[in-house]
Amino acid sequence: MEINYDTGKIVVAGGRRLSGTVRISGAKNAALVLICAATMATEPVILENVPDISDIHVLVRILSEIGLEVSWPAPGTLAVCATTAPQLPPPYQLVKKLRASNLLLGPLLARFGQAQVSLPGGCNIGVRPMDLHFKGLAALGADIRMEKGTVLASAGRLRGARIYLDFPSVGATENIMMAACLAEGQTILENVAKEPEIVDLANFLNCLGARVRGAGTDVIKIEGTDRLGGCLRYNVIPDRIEAGTYMIAAAATRGSVHLSGVISRHLEPLCAKLREAGVSVTEDEESVLVEGGGNYRPIDIKTLPYPGFPTDLQSQMMAFLSTVPGISLITENIFENRYRVADELARMGARIKVEGRLAVIEGVPALQGTQVRASDLRAGAALIIAGLMAQGRTEIYNPGYIFRGYHDIIGKLRALGAEISFQDE
Ligand code: EPU
Repeated sequence: MEINYDTGKIVVAGGRRLSGTVRISGAKNAALVLICAATMATEPVILENVPDISDIHVLVRILSEIGLEVSWPAPGTLAVCATTAPQLPPPYQLVKKLRASNLLLGPLLARFGQAQVSLPGGCNIGVRPMDLHFKGLAALGADIRMEKGTVLASAGRLRGARIYLDFPSVGATENIMMAACLAEGQTILENVAKEPEIVDLANFLNCLGARVRGAGTDVIKIEGTDRLGGCLRYNVIPDRIEAGTYMIAAAATRGSVHLSGVISRHLEPLCAKLREAGVSVTEDEESVLVEGGGNYRPIDIKTLPYPGFPTDLQSQMMAFLSTVPGISLITENIFENRYRVADELARMGARIKVEGRLAVIEGVPALQGTQVRASDLRAGAALIIAGLMAQGRTEIYNPGYIFRGYHDIIGKLRALGAEISFQDE
C-alpha cells in the first residue's frame, strides 16, 4: 500500500542531542534543473546522486507523461532519453505540484521550438513571478503568450542576445542559460545568479557539448551550438540546504554532528553565522563538524542571493535562534512570505515579532512541544528542529512538504539519535 505523506504527521520527542555522522544527498535544486536540461540532449543522459525526494519523482512523472524515456537503472541514478518530440502540454495536475516544472520552458523551447507550462500562481512563500524568464527568452527571439493560465512559447531557431537581469533570479538565469545553448551565436547574460546550482548546470551543459563560460560570476557567456549530445555519467552536487539544515539542528540540540559528502565552500555563509552565534564549526574540503552547546549569542541575519545567507535556511535559523538568549534579527530579502513559520514557533513558546521583512526574535529558555503545521518545505524543516529542541512531544502536520525536499530525513535523524517517526493516519 502506498503511504500518503500529505496526510499523517511527523512526531518528535524533544530533548535529545544529535550526535554522529550524516551523509548529505544530491542537491534537490541542482537535480531538478539538470533533469530539465537533459531534455535538450539528443543522446542518453545518466545522472548520479539524484536525491530520492517527491519533487524529483513528480518531475520524472511529468517527463514520462509527455513521452520522454526516463528510468532508474539503480537507486539514485536516473537515465533520461529525449529522442522524440514531447506531447505537450504536461498534465496540469502534476505541473501544479511542482513550481520547478517551469524550468522546462527554456529547454523545450530551444530544442523543439515550442513549450507550454502552467503559470505558477502565488505560492506559500510569496508571489513568484516569471517576468525575468520571459524577458530573457523573448530577447532570444521567442514568442511568449499567456492563455488561460498557461504560458505558450514558440520560436524558430533562437538567436543569441545581450540580456541584463534586473534581479539575479536563480530560475531565470537557468532557463535563459539553457535556451541560449541552442541559440545561434553568442549570448551574454549580465547580473545573473551565482548559486552553486548554476555552476553545476553550466558544467552539465558543457558535458553535453555546450559552450558556457563564467558561471559562478555575474556574467555568463554562451556560444550557441546546433545540438547537444549526451552525457553518460554526471554526478549532482551535494545539497547545501540539506547540509545546512543538519548543521543548524546540531547547533540547536547542543549536539555534535559530522557531515560527510559536502562541498564545504558552499556552506560558508552558514558557517560564518553559526560561529558568530558561538557554535564551533570545523571544516575541511568535503566534511564539516558542528559542535554545539557553548554559550550562544544572538545574531543578525539578512537573506541575500549567493554568496549571501540563503533564504532556504532562514526558517531553520529562526527556530534555532528562538532559544538563543538575547534579541536576534532576521531580514528576509528574497521571498516576502517566508515568515509563516513564526506563528507555529510561537505556538511552541517562541517570542517572535514580524514586521514586514524584519523578524525580531527574543530567545526563550525552552520551547514546548505541541501540534504545528508546516506551510512549506523549509518551514517544515524548521519545525522539526524546533521539535528536536522542545520539551515534550511535537506533532508536525502537512509532512508532505518536508518529503518534497529531504531524502530520508526521518532515517537520517534517527541515526543521529533523534526520536522521530512518521505516523500515517
Ligand atoms: N523574481 C522575479 N521575477 C522573476 C523571477 C524571480 O521578480 O522572473 C523574484 C522572486 O519573486 C523572488 C526572487 O526573484 O523574490 C528570487 O527568486 P528566484 O527566481 O531566484 O528563485 P527561484 O528560481 O524561483 C530557486 C529555488 C528556491 C530558492 C530560490 C532562491 C529551485 C527549484 N528553487 O527558486 O528553492 O529559495 O531559488 O535561492 O531552484 C526551496 O528549495 O525550498 C526553494 C524554494
